[in-house]
This record gives sequence, structure tokens and C-alpha cells, in this order.
Amino acid sequence: MKGVILAGGLGSRLYPLTRVTNKHLLPVFNKPMIYYPLQALVEVGIKDILIVTGGNYAGEFLRLLGNGAEFGLKEIHYTYQVGEAGIADALRLAEDFADRDRIVVILGDNIFSTSIKKYIEKFLKQKEGAKILIKKVKNPEKFGVVEIKNNKIVSIEEKPKKPKSNYIVTGIYMYDYRVFDFIRKLKKSKRGEYEITDVNNMYLKANLLTYDILEGFWTDCGTFTSLLCANILVAKKLKINLKEIQ
Ligand code: G1P
Repeated sequence: MKGVILAGGLGSRLYPLTRVTNKHLLPVFNKPMIYYPLQALVEVGIKDILIVTGGNYAGEFLRLLGNGAEFGLKEIHYTYQVGEAGIADALRLAEDFADRDRIVVILGDNIFSTSIKKYIEKFLKQKEGAKILIKKVKNPEKFGVVEIKNNKIVSIEEKPKKPKSNYIVTGIYMYDYRVFDFIRKLKKSKRGEYEITDVNNMYLKANLLTYDILEGFWTDCGTFTSLLCANILVAKKLKINLKEIQ
């Protein structure tokens, strides 16, 4: 099992914060954002890790993380996404690194409190296919939304105007080698991106998609509100006394 962290994009929803750095290097309480997904992978014993970055500040990742000694790693692999054609386009760059092994993919701006160990163990028991981790939220229209019937996913829609449920797809995905074949078949969406939701739908259609509900807290950091939320959740987890704020 190998790990891939996707940390490209322009982070334009966070301008002007992201005009001088990459979104995934912004602070989430006391650490740069990218530390959290990296720690999540290291904690479950994954040592082969690829960071896909992009944009104008890719070099800063190397300055910050180097070969990952701070995380007990011997090395970190890096690659660069030219342009901003979406999550699935960034993942495409991981094909040689994956080398037909199974991969766990984490979006670099996803912050969550639970270890992903048990989900990975379940996925490894699965003969083939993919697993996504879902979560109940109050604002599903901002995410990939799953519709579940009789405990089975029946549809996944990317940012639908009328969400069919409150369950959304978090940015933690587990895939077998097929993921790269599916990515090759993708067409750009209306927003001009290669959507990871389309990849997950291909697994769904092929009857190869399982899910688990992620325990604990989860948020991404794509907007000012969610970034603030991530800061507060991490501070609370560290038992910081937020009552000090006047
Ligand atoms: C992306 C995915 C979406 C998923 C979300 C989780 O959204 O497209 O399906 O629910 O990540 O963080 P984006 O960050 O591109 O808006």
C-alpha cells in the first residue's frame, strides 16, 4: 500500500492568502496544513509517499518537508502538476509511482481526527476495487454527495444543487490499479476539471466501490470558513482553552 497526497491547485477561493504560498502550506493551528495528511499516512505505517503539487510555490514543499526526516521517513517522492485540471488529473501523475500497487489518496487540505488504519485494513481485505470514506455534513451541496439505499451507494453527484442526502465523499480514497485506466477514460466536467467523482462513479458502475463512514471530525480547508473550522477543531483536539479568546 502506497500513499498519495494531492496538494496542487491555485487555492483561488482563499485569495489573497494563497497569492504568496500554496494553500497546503497555510497554518492549521500549530502546523502547516500538509502535515496532517502526511501524519495520517505515516501513522498507519505507510512509508512510500508521493506528494503531487503544482502552482507557483511547489519548491516550498521541499524546503518544508525535505525527505521527511521529521516524520521518520527516509524519503518523500514529489511530482508537479502543470495547470489546474482537477483532482483526477493530479492523481494521473501517480501511475508510475503506484506501479500497480494499491494506493490511499488523501486531499492535502483534508483535516480529520480518526486514524484511517481500520479503513485501510478493510480495504486490503477487499479483493479488488475502491473504497471511499463518507461523512454526514450540514452543507452537502459543496461536495460530492452520495445517495445510499439499503446500505449501498446508488449515486454520487459532484456539488449538486439539490443534494439527495447529507452524506458527502471526503477526500480520502482507496484504489486498486484500475484507477489509472478509469482516469484515462475521463472527460472534463462543466467546470473544466477531471473529476474524482467521475472516477468513483466508474468504480460504482463496475460494482467495485465500497464505503465506510469516517468517525470523528472531518473538514476540508478550501474556504475561509472551513479553514477557520479546521483551526478550531485541531485546537479543541489539543485541548487548547479557547475561552482565552476575549
Ligand atoms: C473535492 C471533490 C469532492 C469532495 C471534496 C472533499 O472538492 O471534488 O467530491 O467532496 O473534494 O474535500 P473540491 O475541493 O474540488 O471542491
